[in-house]
Amino acid sequence: MLCCQFPEALEGCDGAFTIESSRVTFGRGCLLEAGPRLRALGCNRVALITDRFVGNLPFAERVLTSLKAAGLDVVRFDEVEIEPTDCSLELAARFAWESKVNGFLSLGGGSVIDTCKAANLLSSYPAALEYYVNAPVGHGHAVPGPLKPHIACPTTSGTGSEVTGIAVFDHTRLHAKTAIAAKELRPTEALIDPDVTASLPAAVVVASGLDVLCHAVESFTARPFSRRLRASPAFARPMSQGANPWSDIGCKEALGLCRDYLVRAASDPTDAEAREAMLWAATLAGIAFGNAGVHLPHAMAYAIAGIAHETHYKPPGYPTTHAFVPHGVSVVLSAPAVVRRTASADPARHLKVAELLGADVRSVKLEDAGEVLAQRLISLMRRLATPNGTAGVGATDVHLPSLVTGTLAQTRLLANAPIVVDEGELSTLFNAGLSCW
Ligand SMILES: [Fe+2]
Repeated sequence: MLCCQFPEALEGCDGAFTIESSRVTFGRGCLLEAGPRLRALGCNRVALITDRFVGNLPFAERVLTSLKAAGLDVVRFDEVEIEPTDCSLELAARFAWESKVNGFLSLGGGSVIDTCKAANLLSSYPAALEYYVNAPVGHGHAVPGPLKPHIACPTTSGTGSEVTGIAVFDHTRLHAKTAIAAKELRPTEALIDPDVTASLPAAVVVASGLDVLCHAVESFTARPFSRRLRASPAFARPMSQGANPWSDIGCKEALGLCRDYLVRAASDPTDAEAREAMLWAATLAGIAFGNAGVHLPHAMAYAIAGIAHETHYKPPGYPTTHAFVPHGVSVVLSAPAVVRRTASADPARHLKVAELLGADVRSVKLEDAGEVLAQRLISLMRRLATPNGTAGVGATDVHLPSLVTGTLAQTRLLANAPIVVDEGELSTLFNAGLSCW
């Protein structure tokens, strides 16, 4: 596709890409549209899905008032845990099924929105969770049809879950992160209100901002859509369809916003401009990765999160006491090692990312693109006081085999990487990622 500076499709590969997104409303005060919008979608009895922390914040009361003012029956579920598990998803699904709702509103971070997606799916088309979970962990069956209306209201500036069809959770038995990925899971609408970010703790701003950063870096450097084998039928192309001209637009803008606002948003809770900018960056990067897909840093992050029960890492600054690695932190820890290796697939794209993150690339040779980008990422990590590599969250050499095994199970993400990786390559990457500086 010469007009968009993407390579022509190879024989058997896809020559087209599809653009999909939830309807997005962005701006201060838009949370108050929740009630009328659900009513317009034909709902009369809705589940408000949230967690106890968010559910007690003043804006949760405003949302509830909006729902009730629109004449909606509201049942409330506030037992979502940070880092949801298969058990907690099934608990929410049972609640939705027994409550006989015909619509959903999720208010919270990615954990809440992902839980709501699963509750919607499992209460609309009841089955064991494994039935829908991505293969090889689950059976990977298709979602049978459309889900009930779901309006997602994010309260963190990171996951982009409000505009994607992915629900991530901890598989309790396997001690591994996995996901259900299906277009039908994408929320019907997203109400993205910057007013909610004022109450975010700095640690949450940092972790979610690093997630935004990596969504943009990975979507921009993913295998191009025209290098992915064409689906049969062609319109059944996956959400992880590879880098494409549409996702590039969101990635470039999001990277520039991360460069200018991420450190500011984390350092000063009263910097409303910076926090709004990061929420917009999260939206753009979410739409981008919902149409392109992420790759190695996210695949490796799921494995890193999966060993938290052994490392007992407790993130400072989080309103919780259980051991876990915040998603955005677990993703960025491997990113420098990954881009050093993936740059060979498309040095110009990697150099472009470095430039968008503020590097002076005028005299940089293409063969140095990976190192220059790695250094930009490390510079941002240090300014944000991120743990220094996976060793910083408790990983050691002993964990390398299980990290590799956990990553190999993420076939959807590995297939979207710009290079082919095997067990040995992953072991090298994890070894390099034990410390970043
Ligand atoms: Fe992410």
